[in-house]
Amino acid sequence: MQDFIGKKVLLGVCGGVAAYKSAYLIRELTRAGAEVKVVMTQSAQEFVSPLLMQALSGNDVRTNLFDAQAERAMGHIELARWADYLVIAPASANCLAKIAQGIADDLLSTLYLVAEIPVIVCPAMNRSMWAHPATQANCKLLQERGVIFVGPEEGSQACGEQGFGRVSEVEQIISALRLYDVHQLLRGKKVLVTAGPTREPIDPVRYISNYSSGKMGYALAEAAAMAGAQVTLISGPSSLQASAAIKRIRVESAQEMLNAVKKEMPAGGIFIGTAAVADYRVESPESEKIKKKNHDEMTLKLIKNPDILSHVVDSAKASYVVGFAAETTDVLHYATEKLQHKKLDMIVANAVGKGLGFDSEVNQVTLIAKNKQIELPLTHKTRLAGQIIAIIAATLQNDAH
Ligand SMILES: Cc1cc2nc3c(=O)[nH]c(=O)nc-3n(C[C@H](O)[C@H](O)[C@H](O)COP(=O)(O)O)c2cc1C
Repeated sequence: MQDFIGKKVLLGVCGGVAAYKSAYLIRELTRAGAEVKVVMTQSAQEFVSPLLMQALSGNDVRTNLFDAQAERAMGHIELARWADYLVIAPASANCLAKIAQGIADDLLSTLYLVAEIPVIVCPAMNRSMWAHPATQANCKLLQERGVIFVGPEEGSQACGEQGFGRVSEVEQIISALRLYDVHQLLRGKKVLVTAGPTREPIDPVRYISNYSSGKMGYALAEAAAMAGAQVTLISGPSSLQASAAIKRIRVESAQEMLNAVKKEMPAGGIFIGTAAVADYRVESPESEKIKKKNHDEMTLKLIKNPDILSHVVDSAKASYVVGFAAETTDVLHYATEKLQHKKLDMIVANAVGKGLGFDSEVNQVTLIAKNKQIELPLTHKTRLAGQIIAIIAATLQNDAH
């Protein structure tokens, strides 16, 4: 989806192995409609060529502060004023140290001081460099000044070591841009999100499930984390990644999801139930694989699964409960009924089918709360998640006054 049309991203690339990933970042940002201009440090050019960045961005790449051609009209100031966002990916330990201390000895560090726009940094370095008190102190300073950090992630590193220092995936960096507006809106709050489908076993190798991919729930968890909340994500089977800041608990069945919700629901927290929990499960799953040759036909007896949303409401532990209603017909009617019947604070009414809802990148929803109804336009699920989180935050703030 081209939800970055009209957005201008200034991408700073530092010297590290992860510099090759910025090529992919440029490609994905331009695919989403953004205009990208690239600034590379001298070290970055040891790893990737400016020509590649130029070809992918379709713009000249700046590598030098003292570029007589570009600086005729103070190009570095113009560049900083041109952009809507400054993204530094990968951000080296050296660059973080320089910008934290206000050192402006090359084009990128000078641009950082000039830029009066949102700054997102994506550190990538050896785990010891990241853990070093000097780096940590620099990052703390930058965070206090409003710089947004995406990553680093934990995993195996180019140097062969294991730990925190991997640059975040391109999708996570783009998500942070999509979610920039929710920054700090839920600071100090605790949020529990359920996501994905559940799997109800028939035998050890078969199950009943649904088409939910978990994308909406993961996007809401990311949005809540970006909003500064402490987030727990209880996820049914899904191939999606969650940021390191999110505590993720994987479950399979509805019963397991309920148990996890009972254990993890923080008192006074916000509950967002996006999971497509199977309404029914097989009463007696077989303990051994069912053999085809033994059955010409078979009947499965299904029994009702526990209602997780109702459990959360009845337990009165959450301060605000949001449900989702995925329907193929009469969406608003069924959603309003569910809101009232289950005594929810808000329901997100969601038409599914026809390329919307399940397993899609985009979604269009209507939020229904006690005395308001807000129709949100069709957009990327991450942007939508940010809008939902912003509305929840505004509602909580109004209720508090
Ligand atoms: C092969 C190699 C890989 C490197 N990888 C990283 C890295 O991932 N992160 C980092 O902070 N520095 C890394 N460095 C060190 C930086 O390149 C060095 O600190 C440089 O001064 C950074 O310059 P810059 O911040 O201007 O880009 C690496 C150096 C070499 C030789």
